[in-house]
Amino acid sequence: MKALRRLTGSRNAAISDASAGAPASVVPRHVAIIMDGNGRWATRRLLPRTVGHHKGVDAVRTTVEACVQRGIEYLTLFAFSSENWRRPEEEVSVLMTLFVSALEREVGRLTRTGVRLKVIGDVSAFNPTLQAAIRDAEARTAGNDKLTLTVAANYGGRWDVAQAMRRLLAEQPECMTDPALITPEAIDARLATAGMPEPDLFIRTGGEQRISNFLLWQLAYTELYFTDDFWPDFDAAALDRAIASFSERERRFGRTSAQVAATATAQRG
Ligand code: IPE
Ligand code: IPE
Ligand code: MG
Repeated sequence: MKALRRLTGSRNAAISDASAGAPASVVPRHVAIIMDGNGRWATRRLLPRTVGHHKGVDAVRTTVEACVQRGIEYLTLFAFSSENWRRPEEEVSVLMTLFVSALEREVGRLTRTGVRLKVIGDVSAFNPTLQAAIRDAEARTAGNDKLTLTVAANYGGRWDVAQAMRRLLAEQPECMTDPALITPEAIDARLATAGMPEPDLFIRTGGEQRISNFLLWQLAYTELYFTDDFWPDFDAAALDRAIASFSERERRFGRTSAQVAATATAQRG
């Protein structure tokens, strides 16, 4: 049964584990992560919260490399939500400085590992230095095609749907007189994630079980995985645990289990 399930996700590739006898796992094509728990990681060690954010950057590097090694094509990371401006000014300021330094420092490594960087969100709210660092990192990695790393910064799922609607109305004013033109496909094509497959696997670290205004539209059929691990502790083994959980899921997309099994049998021919 598990073997059948493995073949049912049309976008998923079944691969064999390197170690003999280990069960094959399904590699999700697109993984989306809410990197939560930096502050608590630091507080537990009697350190300032910002130390947790610095450690969080190391976990990003480790996770990006683990994704490349596993053949994951898209990794989308929630780095700063549209609500995170509500944090103390000093913490926001440290996060902004950290973004600039991480972008400048990591761009060479991203290129060497074939990672293309994209930033989604309302970047116009960032200071000019950060906006320039984002543009530069995107331009310098534009030719890479192993993994698309999308960083959501000043991003909110509600903002994304609203900006997609605004774009649709601007590009197709006839929507005003013919509302039937406002279709899920028309909105989807104007989201910040347009052109990417929807996330197969969503991971949230830090123990909270909520979406916090991340990819609201795009997560409609994503498999959700929550872990108590704090983000700075997330590593390749933690990613593999999430992938193992994902591999056990039967993705039905509204169909029955029997239909899914029949499709898998037909695909195997
Ligand atoms: C996630 O960790 C990082 C950002 C939101 C920028 P937190 O800073 O939310 O850490 P906790 O949840 O307070 O522990
Ligand atoms: C979500 O984490 C945003 C990011 C990880 C960037 P938060 O820590 O801001 O979420 P809430 O406030 O606990 O829901
Ligand atoms: Mg948090």
